[in-house]
Amino acid sequence: MAAARSAFLVMAVFVASVFATTCAADLFDTLQSDQRFKVVVKALVDTQEVDALRDRSNGSVPFVFIAQTDASLQEGLGPDGLACITRPEHVKDHMVQILRFMEVGPLSRPVKTAADLSSVAVDGKLPTINGMPIFVEPASTASRVILSGDAEQEQFSATVAEVKQINANVTLVVVANGFLVSAQVDEQIAMACFPPAASSSSPAVPIAASSAHAPSSKNAPSSKNAPSSKAVESAPSSMGLWRKLLRGY
Ligand SMILES: *[C@@H]1O[C@H](CO)[C@@H](O)[C@H](O)[C@H]1NC(C)=O
Ligand SMILES: *[C@@H]1O[C@H](CO)[C@@H](O)[C@H](O)[C@H]1NC(C)=O
Repeated sequence: MAAARSAFLVMAVFVASVFATTCAADLFDTLQSDQRFKVVVKALVDTQEVDALRDRSNGSVPFVFIAQTDASLQEGLGPDGLACITRPEHVKDHMVQILRFMEVGPLSRPVKTAADLSSVAVDGKLPTINGMPIFVEPASTASRVILSGDAEQEQFSATVAEVKQINANVTLVVVANGFLVSAQVDEQIAMACFPPAASSSSPAVPIAASSAHAPSSKNAPSSKNAPSSKAVESAPSSMGLWRKLLRGY
């Protein structure tokens, strides 16, 4: 009887402690337990940013993490781009900049709704740990807030899909329908992963012809390196080409 009672007590204490741990889940734990953020979680570990993120999201100041799902990253970077920047030789230089661009703070007030992102923005900009601002487009409706990594270029923007408060000062914002990155970091990734062809004397391959022959992602990097006469005359950087071929912009 006594044994049964103490077994019950041990069990009750165990259940209570598990419950307490669950309730105190911090931002990183929340990301880790959500199957949509496997790329971000692995990248935070690989870049040794977990402790810094835990510190910034410890609740002492208002802070927002703008999480991009695996699907968004895959779509925004392309399968080859994503595979490239998560490789050990690039993850610390480039993926880390994407991660720090997701970290917004310190803010003047906590964010509870999508519309709060507009109201805490200063001159339409939110500060990030990466150092580049995120632009908040004035919402036509409170439920549709658009965040952008570049004030001019629409392709760097995404829509706020979900807002979840982790604690009184810390908020997890999930974005969808786009890829949020600063134009500068996007350019760096393009240069690192898809360097421009060394010489422009190689025969020009029209985009239509190469994409007709190489629709699979496996062929994309090599076809991307082939300079197209159209892209060369309009944009000398590799980025325009990269986008056109890999992302279809
Ligand atoms: C949270 O982190 C800051 C540094 O970013 C530190 O000064 C503060 O003491 C921490 N607060 C708690 C409750 O850990
Ligand atoms: C939230 O942040 C403010 C500003 O830094 C701070 O004064 C307040 O104590 C924080 N709230 C909590 C619950 O820690």
